[in-house]
Amino acid sequence: MHLEVNSEEFGTDTLKGLSNPIQKSIPSKYLYDSKGSFLFEQITVQPEYYPTRTENSILEEYSPEILQIIPKEIILIEMGSGSSKKTKHLFDSILKRQDKLYYFPIDISFNFLDSVVTDLETQNQNIMIKGIPNDYINGIKDCNNILFENNFKFDSFSRLIIFFGSSIGNFEIDEARDFLKAVRINMNDKDFLLVGFDMIKDECLIEPAYNDKAGFTAQFNLNLLTRMNRELGCNFDLNEYVHYAFFNKEKDRIEMHLKSKSDQEFRISGSDRIFQIYQGETIHTESSYKYNEEKIHELAIRSGFSLERIFSDNNNWFNLVLLKPC
Ligand code: AVJ
Repeated sequence: MHLEVNSEEFGTDTLKGLSNPIQKSIPSKYLYDSKGSFLFEQITVQPEYYPTRTENSILEEYSPEILQIIPKEIILIEMGSGSSKKTKHLFDSILKRQDKLYYFPIDISFNFLDSVVTDLETQNQNIMIKGIPNDYINGIKDCNNILFENNFKFDSFSRLIIFFGSSIGNFEIDEARDFLKAVRINMNDKDFLLVGFDMIKDECLIEPAYNDKAGFTAQFNLNLLTRMNRELGCNFDLNEYVHYAFFNKEKDRIEMHLKSKSDQEFRISGSDRIFQIYQGETIHTESSYKYNEEKIHELAIRSGFSLERIFSDNNNWFNLVLLKPC
């Protein structure tokens, strides 16, 4: 399937975000066009970017233990599957206890999803893969419909829904609660949810992860301007903006911005407005919230889950949290 992005929504969201007189912003989901997804993959292998390899090491060590908690045959649903690389550890452990596995990767980067699914299919004969090109919640609904239409007996399976990479950190705290509630509504009592959280730690560890020396994070951020120029008829001069990322200690979040190097103007096609941006003024493009155990507990309880177990690395830099509907 080759659906293209809903550019109408991109346009309205951008217009709204850039019209805010207090802080210009653009929803972070628009960072992930094909080029953005590609650049993000480069970020994940930079030496400064600890989350991916830390989460991967937790999965490598604990996949069997995680699965032990889940008694039934597993159907795997992944929200924001990206390259599906970390999921391999789960595939291996699951296929040790069942002959075949149904895997539903959900991703909004449609073309990227297509190529990942094709690769996975050729590598794994025992994994039945159905890529779901949708947003997270609608993607889960799509999976439920597919299972229902194919007469799956929901009683005899546990669905394990996974949400890796600390993408939960992209949501504001209240949004994260509402999001998990929406996931919860689409789950049964026998299903499980496994979520990755990046933990609060010293800013001298966090900030370099979002300012890699090779400059991939900067390219990833600036790619949003390229995308707006291409898809929304904007006229951003890429030489006039710089990548800017810092840890906001009061809010326990990394903020990523595009900072204007000069007083300048820009426009969006379809709007008569001329937008002004001042030297040093920023466009907020992403927040990445960091958590501690207390915040994780609070989030779980508020969204209708009980916390089964936390899996962590030796430094406690990253937590994989297994949740059960309650
Ligand atoms: C994909 C949202 C988890 O916040 O660490 C990485 C995105 N942005 N570098 C993160 C990101 C800049 C990443 N998440």
